[in-house]
Amino acid sequence: MASGEPSPGGGAARRPLHSAQAVDVASASNFRAFELLHLHLDLRAEFGPPGPGVGSRGLSGTAVLDLRCLEPEGAVELRLDSHPCLEVTAAALRRERPGSEEPPAEPVSFYTQPFSHYGQALCVSFPQPCSAAERLQVLLTYRVGEGPGVCWLAPEQTAGKKKPFVYTQGQAVLNRAFFPCFDTPAVKYKYSALIEVPDGFTAVMSASTWEKRGPNKFFFQMCQPIPSYLIALAIGDLVSAEVGPRLHEDDTLYILKISKPRLWSRVWAEPCLIDAAKEEYNGVIEEFLATGEKLFGPYVWGRYDLLFMPPSFPFGGMENPCLTFVTPCLLAGDRSLADVIIHEISHSWFGNLVTNANWGEFWLNEGFTMYAQRRISTILFGVDPDDTYNETPYEKGFCFVSYLAHLVGDQDQFDNFLKAYVHEFKFQSILADDFLDFYLEYFPELKKKRVDIIPGFEFDRWLNTPGWPPYLPDLSPGDSLMKPAEELAQLWAAEELDMKAIEAVAISPWKTYQLVYFLDKILQKSPLPPGNVKKLGETYPSISNARNAELRLRWGQIVLKNDHQEDFWKVKEFLHNQGKQKYTLPLYHAMMGGSEVAQTLAKETFESTASQLHSNVVNYVQQIVAPKGS
Ligand code: BES
Ligand code: ZN
Repeated sequence: MASGEPSPGGGAARRPLHSAQAVDVASASNFRAFELLHLHLDLRAEFGPPGPGVGSRGLSGTAVLDLRCLEPEGAVELRLDSHPCLEVTAAALRRERPGSEEPPAEPVSFYTQPFSHYGQALCVSFPQPCSAAERLQVLLTYRVGEGPGVCWLAPEQTAGKKKPFVYTQGQAVLNRAFFPCFDTPAVKYKYSALIEVPDGFTAVMSASTWEKRGPNKFFFQMCQPIPSYLIALAIGDLVSAEVGPRLHEDDTLYILKISKPRLWSRVWAEPCLIDAAKEEYNGVIEEFLATGEKLFGPYVWGRYDLLFMPPSFPFGGMENPCLTFVTPCLLAGDRSLADVIIHEISHSWFGNLVTNANWGEFWLNEGFTMYAQRRISTILFGVDPDDTYNETPYEKGFCFVSYLAHLVGDQDQFDNFLKAYVHEFKFQSILADDFLDFYLEYFPELKKKRVDIIPGFEFDRWLNTPGWPPYLPDLSPGDSLMKPAEELAQLWAAEELDMKAIEAVAISPWKTYQLVYFLDKILQKSPLPPGNVKKLGETYPSISNARNAELRLRWGQIVLKNDHQEDFWKVKEFLHNQGKQKYTLPLYHAMMGGSEVAQTLAKETFESTASQLHSNVVNYVQQIVAPKGS
């Protein structure tokens, strides 16, 4: 597989971008005043009790930023995004001096300024203003213990329950609580890191290379420029196993000289999960990547590894480059959840290579990724099996991209356009207008026809008015698969159950996504007439006792909507078992919207699980269970 394509930024210096002027209201930094050339993190991780106090858990060390001043008039300070949980104890400045090889770093003063509930500004003052184009290095000594950016887990909160674990989740604005930076997706840079861990721990990062340095140190380098939110770290009792490329028998028999290795993938997990991880993903990643490359151009990240996170990881997947973080719920044993992997792989082009310049343009990351994910799965599996995820930037974004494909009218031409789009904007951050200008230039006939202002379908309306998408892609190929599920759900909604008709439908050959769809229909029709849900659970133990997280979520929702108290314990067990935001919040909503018993269940479950949940998830659940001002 091709890797290491043209040099960073090589894609598109020619086009003046709208994003060059864009503001990022979520950043407190003066990121337009400097070019960030490189970041180096030198951190030591210590596990201990939650802080504060001596010996408490924390990361400590330095962050070193290589900068070039972009202000024509020079600059007097560097303003970075930071967070009250970062204890910065020293700042130093190294400036280019004619004649001296490596000038010394001199201590400089710094102060913080309040910004918002999710961060503060860290201002480093220069004793003399730096001049236009001057290069400088800023060294910050700091420590971070408890906070929203670095998530510390006690041994009981891991799969193995033996050793503690720590990980970071940067998207969207949490990495300012991990290291001081320009925490805006408008800025991209390369980074390296040296991470020291206690005996018996392994560190992994979202980086091109991973190197062990002595027994306790790990060195990482990311050789492509990325935005701050994609820098990610995890430390725990981790092991890895190779899952690709699949060597074909012919290769192993006849190979004479191994020239350039193709892309190697590994799965990383706690020891107790590694066999399951290897079993489930051996040899499949390669195929997804190869299909992505055919559609969208070279995969530039050099490696694609998967890290199976502890159960409280709040997302299905997070596209950290070179090392996607995934929930252990994906170890369903049936490969039914590969769509999450395909989704995260699709971010390798949409999101990680071409990036939204601020979070208001988030749909550029997720809408294109949904489109790419479905292109890949349509090619590999025929009918698109993905029908489980529903949020505006994802689904309306997907519809918009589908609409633009429909305007072109030819799938091959549109696929070629996607490839050109990635090539044009790779390693940059863009706004929707950058993309739309490019689209109209690429298809001049469409530009001539003024497709951007077709009444009712104006691009501006797509992007800026709420409401249902004006165009829906043709999903009818899925109908034949979904129809039986819909009919069966109808039978179960009847006042008098027609068990003969119900038993005539065999659901055992159904794919997970068909079961999911069936349960969604049941949920829509709920509450069902009394007794039906009990009977439903008894009739399909493969649903009511499922281990697959998507099925457990929906069974839980049905149980709650029907106040089927006999199965409440399953909801509780599920919420104790994992902490994914998209499972957790709907269940708490359902509990709080349910009977008194359900509400009590919510409060008790939250009390006993809060300590294991991601801090963002805790805040959201709190809002549901005990809204402020109630
Ligand atoms: N990048 C997102 C997760 C994310 C979004 C984290 C916003 C923080 C803020 C990731 O690619 C994603 O969309 N994950 C989905 C996967 C699904 C759409 C297949 C998830 O976690 O459910
Ligand atoms: Zn995504």
